[in-house]
Amino acid sequence: MQQMFIIGYGQERKGEVTGMNNDIKTIGVLTSGGDAPGMNAAIRAVVRAAITRGYKVKGVRHGYNGLLTNDIIDMNVRSVSEIIHRGGTILYTARCLEFKTLEGQQRAAQACRDAGIDALVVIGGDGSFRGCKDMAAQGIPCIGIPGTIDNDIACSDYTIGYDTAMNTAVEMIDKLRDTTQSHDRCSVVEVMGRNAGYIALNTGIACGALVTLIPEVPYDLERDVISRMKATQKTGKRHFIIIVAEGVGRAHDIANEIQSRTGIDSRATVLGHVQRGGSPSLRDRVTASRMGYHAVELLSKGIYNRVVATKAESIVDYDIAVALSMYKTIDTSLLDIAGAISRSCLLYTSDAADE
Ligand code: ADP
Ligand code: F6P
Repeated sequence: MQQMFIIGYGQERKGEVTGMNNDIKTIGVLTSGGDAPGMNAAIRAVVRAAITRGYKVKGVRHGYNGLLTNDIIDMNVRSVSEIIHRGGTILYTARCLEFKTLEGQQRAAQACRDAGIDALVVIGGDGSFRGCKDMAAQGIPCIGIPGTIDNDIACSDYTIGYDTAMNTAVEMIDKLRDTTQSHDRCSVVEVMGRNAGYIALNTGIACGALVTLIPEVPYDLERDVISRMKATQKTGKRHFIIIVAEGVGRAHDIANEIQSRTGIDSRATVLGHVQRGGSPSLRDRVTASRMGYHAVELLSKGIYNRVVATKAESIVDYDIAVALSMYKTIDTSLLDIAGAISRSCLLYTSDAADE
């Protein structure tokens, strides 16, 4: 007869509690930098995986700032109830300039010791991981979990929040298309991504944008945008969606320039921080849960100062210094696909060119 196991917290991996690293009794968790949907799911996973293994957990609120202001709370399994589906972060987040100084880092490490925090799990982006490296140098073991909608953490294929943000952008751009089409206009849509074009490139493909501009690839407005618009106009196309990553330049400036060079009525839409909110997608919830669990597993094995990452579909981890020295390039196959599909609009002369 097949045996059935029901897995819940307090049940799975019970035997491994004895394998707990003795140096660590209390784990601190914080979120830092820009928030991202799925951060709550990661906090939940860290708290529950840690408690399952017999650790105490403390939440540090408002990022590294919370260490400098002693904004630290005790957490239990119920502290993270009903948050897996919520955007934002129940621990709040912040950018803390004082923490960037050596004195700030020394104070933060002392605050950890005073609060009895033996190790810190930091959910955030590259900047937050630099903070982890500095905390490690002050003797506080750290684990980083990539949480940013930009997907710009070099060591990881994927970052928590990326999928939700892209789905939000696609939903908004689909709505925008309706009015753009009705008015025979050009919509220049600015999506987030200060230094990275991942959101732009994927939403560009998903929304059938004629052109997508990303910071990683230099562009020439006349060659890459205007001439392409004019050529597709000749095939009967009357409305245009151009997607611009934030790091490329201001959508308003680009829309004005398009209007003055083509005469096509153009509007700019900046999607902005709406992309950072909302209920996390399944992918973000699952990835956050896996990463949070993995972070605690590392600490329980006495493995410190790592950044958790995804590689293909697996959860892996890298030394923080190594992770910060890595470099990630944009997936050129996506660039090829975006280019080929939008270029193909130029080849048809039917009036059915509706993208
Ligand atoms: P992200 O983590 O999303 O990249 P930031 O770059 O704003 O966001 O960094 C978040 C916080 O991490 C900063 O406000 C600061 O407290 C800390 N931090 C950033 N860079 C460093 C650094 N070089 N050294 C120490 N701490 C840093
Ligand atoms: O979370 C990353 C990011 O969304 C970037 O794309 C953007 O430039 C930045 O955060 C803006 O964040 P804030 O307005 O909070 O400074």
